[in-house]
Amino acid sequence: MNASTPDAGLVGRDTLLAEAGTLLADGRHLTLSGLPGVGKSRLARTIAAGPAVRGAAHVVDLAPLRKEALLPHAIAAAVGLDVSDGRPVRDGLLAHLAGREVLLVLDNAEHLADACRILVPELLWRCPGVRVLVTSRLPLRTAVERLLVVGPLSEEAAMELFLDRARAAAPGRFGTPLHDVLARSLCRRLDLLPLALELAAAKLGSLSLSELEHALDVGDDLAPPDCDPGRRPAHHHSLSTVLGRSHELCSPAQRLLWARLSVFIGAFSADDAGSVCGDRLLPDVAGELDRLAEGSLLHGRAGSFWLPVTVRTYGMRLLVALGESARQQARYRAWRGRGLP
Ligand SMILES: Nc1ncnc2c1ncn2[C@@H]1O[C@H](COP(=O)(O)OP(=O)(O)OP(=O)(O)O)[C@@H](O)[C@H]1O
Ligand SMILES: [Mg+2]
Repeated sequence: MNASTPDAGLVGRDTLLAEAGTLLADGRHLTLSGLPGVGKSRLARTIAAGPAVRGAAHVVDLAPLRKEALLPHAIAAAVGLDVSDGRPVRDGLLAHLAGREVLLVLDNAEHLADACRILVPELLWRCPGVRVLVTSRLPLRTAVERLLVVGPLSEEAAMELFLDRARAAAPGRFGTPLHDVLARSLCRRLDLLPLALELAAAKLGSLSLSELEHALDVGDDLAPPDCDPGRRPAHHHSLSTVLGRSHELCSPAQRLLWARLSVFIGAFSADDAGSVCGDRLLPDVAGELDRLAEGSLLHGRAGSFWLPVTVRTYGMRLLVALGESARQQARYRAWRGRGLP
C-alpha cells in the first residue's frame, strides 16, 4: 500500500475513516482507542497511506518497545533521523521535526501511555507542522487529544471479513446457505472483532464450522495450527496473547475484578458488580470498573456494562487460576436467585 492506493482489503470502515479525517484536519492529536484486536492499527495505517495526509507519514510500531525512555529513539528511527551526533535524541528529534509537515502514527502505544502523554504535547508545541495519530487501548488524556473509539464491525462487514479469511484457509468449502447461518452465528459469538474473526477463520483449514463452534465452547485459544511468527505481530498469535497484553497493563485489583466479572452472563450495572465481586480485597469495584472500561476491556452504555466474549473467556481462565471459580459462581448464583445471602 502506498499514498495513492486505498486499502482494498479494509472492510466496513468508511464512516470511521471520514470521521478520523475530519478530526485530524481540525485538531493535531487524534487517538484511536477500542477493544483489543478491533482494528485500530489497521485503520491508522490506512489513514497514514491515504491521499488526505499532508506531507510525509511515518508509522512507529511501539508494540515491541519495552522502555519508555526509548520512545524518542523509536520515532527518530522511523523518521530517518541520524542520532549519532551526540545530542540528546529528544532534542534532535524536536529540532528535526520543527520545520516539517508530518503525520506521526504512534501505533500500539498503550504500554507507553505515560511517556506519550509527555512527548506528544511537546512535539505539537515545538513542531507546528506535526500531527499525531495514536492507537492505544487506553486514551492518553492530554489536553488537546481528540478521541475516536473504534467499535466492532457491523454484522455484514464481519461476515465479509470472516468468509474472505475462511475461503483463504479452506478454498472451495464455503458458500451454502447453511454455511452462512453458521458463519453469522460465529461472527456474533466473536463480538464482530476482526482479529478474533481472523484467528477463528484460520482454523478452518483443519476444522469444519461446527467443529470450530465446539472448539470455542471448550475455550479454544484460537492459536493458529501453523503458527508462523512472521505473519502476525507477537501479541496477535492467539486470544490469550491479545488479552495478555491488556492483562499486563492492569493493576492487581483490575485483574481480580476482570476474573470475578467473568461469571456474569450478559449485562450488569456497577451496583451488580459490587454485589457479586466486592470484598475486602476489592473494596472499590465501581472505580476499578471504570478503569477496565477506560482500558477498552468492557462494553458500556448508560450505566450498563458487559464483557466481550473474548475478554470473558480470558477472565474465566484467570478465575480458575486464582482458585476462586466455585466461590465466585456461588456468589453469582446467590445474587441472581435472591440477592446476596
Ligand atoms: N476493517 C478491517 N478490514 C479488514 N481487516 C481488518 C479490519 N480491521 C482489522 N483487520 C485485521 O484484524 C487484525 C487486527 O487488527 P488491528 O491490528 O488493527 O487491531 P488493533 O485494534 O490494533 O489490536 P491491538 O489492540 O492488539 O493493537 C489485523 O490482521 C487487521 O488487518
Ligand atoms: Mg494495534
